[in-house]
Amino acid sequence: MTLITLNHSYIYSFRYDYHHNELCKLESRQIFDKEEKNNLLFSNVKVDPSISPFIKNRFEIILSSENYSELLKNIKEENIRIDGFKAEYLILDGDSAEKPERREKLKDIGYRIEGQPDFDNPSITYSICFYKNVWYFGVLTKHNTDWLKHNDKPSSFSNSICIKIAKTLVSIASTGNINNKLLDACCGVGTIMLEACISGFNIEGCDINSKTCKHTRQNLAHYNYTTTVYCSDVKDLNKKYSAAIIDLPYNLFSYSNDLITANIIKSTAKLAARIVIVSISDIETIIKKSGLKIHDFCTVQKRGKSKFTRNIWVCEKENSTN
Ligand SMILES: C[S@@+](CC[C@H](N)C(=O)[O-])C[C@H]1O[C@@H](n2cnc3c(N)ncnc32)[C@H](O)[C@@H]1O
Repeated sequence: MTLITLNHSYIYSFRYDYHHNELCKLESRQIFDKEEKNNLLFSNVKVDPSISPFIKNRFEIILSSENYSELLKNIKEENIRIDGFKAEYLILDGDSAEKPERREKLKDIGYRIEGQPDFDNPSITYSICFYKNVWYFGVLTKHNTDWLKHNDKPSSFSNSICIKIAKTLVSIASTGNINNKLLDACCGVGTIMLEACISGFNIEGCDINSKTCKHTRQNLAHYNYTTTVYCSDVKDLNKKYSAAIIDLPYNLFSYSNDLITANIIKSTAKLAARIVIVSISDIETIIKKSGLKIHDFCTVQKRGKSKFTRNIWVCEKENSTN
């Protein structure tokens, strides 16, 4: 047996484009306290794979063995009886099994589970995978891509954040904990809020611009999400949150300068102890002067040759009692 087998309950597999490499690594540090490597991560932390745009599958380990026949014997001894199951082979980095071999292995699994399979609409998906000379048997939970419908939200800004980054900001701010109460402090048309709502996070939004707030509410109502959008300067909010996200004004459609930036950050820091800040400028000095400790950081480039870069800081209030 390897250490991997004994130490971890879940195997997560990842998929992302090269320009999201840093963002995915930041997210995985914040959720799992370590980085994914070669699109894989072993962990005891349980999160729904659909909270991240990059997690493809979560494999919950039931059994493992270096010996395939022993694994099959142990599966049989589990006495699994369930109707509506499906079996899938999960291909991990380093597994060179061809399709015919994978098909045979799936039959092996299917024969050791009692019940009527359902390939189209399974109630549970059992899976096997092979990694570093160890066979694993477990339950596979796949990423649900429903959130991509938010690409067609009724109201959008040309400077709205892309939905993949928006989704990652929610998972980073919440660290994947669904019980954390979140604030989108400069919510714009609600791109970040939509991603929080679809994953069941408790989020509220705030924006100083009344027209923008109207669009946010329209977007939320379009998908039947019910939450509050405060049409207010964030400095006038008087609530407490576990974490806040600030996608700062870019000085394109809404005017901004260092003073405005500092005020938004300081005001938000009164409402939450953990803050994820997004800016296209380097505002590290302003963040530090606002009494926040920078805990983690990454930059996100746009795909292609564009020089457009977003900076993301994960911050915590110094000497926080929030
Ligand atoms: C970059 S946009 C946010 C975009 C948003 N993430 C989206 O995808 O639609 C910044 C927003 O901050 C808002 N804003 C500026 N100053 C603010 C303040 N003091 N309090 C709250 N919102 C503010 C602006 O109205 C603008 O909608």
